[in-house]
Amino acid sequence: MSPALNSPKEIHRWCRNFPGTKAQIREARRFVTSYLGDLPEADTAELVVSELATNAIRHTRSGRAGGRFGVTLHAGTTLLILAVDDEGGPSIPYVCQAEDTDQSGRGLHLVDSLTTRWGVHGDEGGRTVWGLIPLASAGQTV
Ligand SMILES: Nc1ncnc2c1ncn2[C@@H]1O[C@H](COP(=O)(O)OP(=O)(O)O)[C@@H](O)[C@H]1O
Ligand SMILES: [Mg+2]
Repeated sequence: MSPALNSPKEIHRWCRNFPGTKAQIREARRFVTSYLGDLPEADTAELVVSELATNAIRHTRSGRAGGRFGVTLHAGTTLLILAVDDEGGPSIPYVCQAEDTDQSGRGLHLVDSLTTRWGVHGDEGGRTVWGLIPLASAGQTV
């Protein structure tokens, strides 16, 4: 059952930290879908968290031995906010140019296309990359 659908007037917030290993990407996806199971936006949210968690592991200190990343899911009345906290590093999240994207560089393109907005807070010591997903069911009473 989806808390967001069944309580459309409430705002929910769920957070969890994960060890910074590849195997935990699937756990992060499960974490998100466990709360959004029957929402039509669950698949989109799963894809977005998968890309952001992958980036945290691949591009930040979250992917080092003992590293961690965090996932926060806000389910509001009209939108979802998905945020992934990482442990930072020298690079900055950016959408790659088309010529860079043969093998890699597609993740944030996908996030950009699946969200109405996305952005980054923080600095080299740790960043939060977030995205907004509108709820098509917003305003419906169940
Ligand atoms: N959380 C992050 N922290 C720092 N840099 C990031 C982060 N996420 C993405 N980046 C940077 O943005 C680039 C583009 O990310 P992405 O589109 O997912 O492509 P890819 O992960 O395949 O390189 C990455 O190559 C990396 O340099
Ligand atoms: Mg990526």
